[in-house]
Amino acid sequence: MTDSSPRRPLMAANWKMHKTPAETAEFLARLQPLVAANREAARPCDIVVAPPFPCLPAAAAAARGTGIELAGQNMHWESHGAFTGEVSAAMLLAAGCRYVILGHSERRQYFGETDATVNRKLHAALAAGLTPIFCLGETLAQREAGETEAVLREQLERGMLGLAPAQAAVCVIAYEPVWAIGTGKTATPETAAEAHRYLRRRLALLYGEAAAAAQRILYGGSVKPDNIRGLMAQPDIDGALVGGASLDPQAFAALVNF
Ligand code: PGA
Repeated sequence: MTDSSPRRPLMAANWKMHKTPAETAEFLARLQPLVAANREAARPCDIVVAPPFPCLPAAAAAARGTGIELAGQNMHWESHGAFTGEVSAAMLLAAGCRYVILGHSERRQYFGETDATVNRKLHAALAAGLTPIFCLGETLAQREAGETEAVLREQLERGMLGLAPAQAAVCVIAYEPVWAIGTGKTATPETAAEAHRYLRRRLALLYGEAAAAAQRILYGGSVKPDNIRGLMAQPDIDGALVGGASLDPQAFAALVNF
């Protein structure tokens, strides 16, 4: 199943632990003129920037009226409480976010995130009205052991457990093979597309063909201006979740203007 549906591309900047509020304001001021033509482009992109939490007020002020949306990089599933260091969905919304990145492999690898905690966060984000960017992907060892599809299936089904079809439809999925994140080793467009097709087939089994055809699936892992076109030429790749190359306004604008 490929592309008869007009899925709108989405380019999301995942800044991770980079930039201060002043650097955030400067980035957005520099980005805006570089992506001004996007709105009139043949295939306009949704543009999302996920700065660190302390930069959200500066980002919200700088992005106002530009069409650039903001995302949190993580959140807790509870609405409030004694959870030192955490933020809630309502706090992200109040700070101007429409999206939240959940289940990023760095959260899974370094901060004990599991499919079960990702699942709780997906439910909480959706209940609050945030659009989750739900990340999944296999490690190199899993790929070499031929386990890629089994891992993707498990992460997808456990992460989205209990979501109603209408809720699942809201989610953006980000396929990020762990071996490609920050390593300079992008998956080839064909390898990425194969995983995207597999995920879309699983989504069709879970939620129906129409829902799966409408679902946006992003690729992430060493996306750069020189490899974006090949990735976006694949009918099942609907955009990118970008780390390193999203820190520079010129490079991120080149991705938006692919
Ligand atoms: P990268 O990161 O573009 O630096 O590989 C992608 C991500 O972790 O979302």
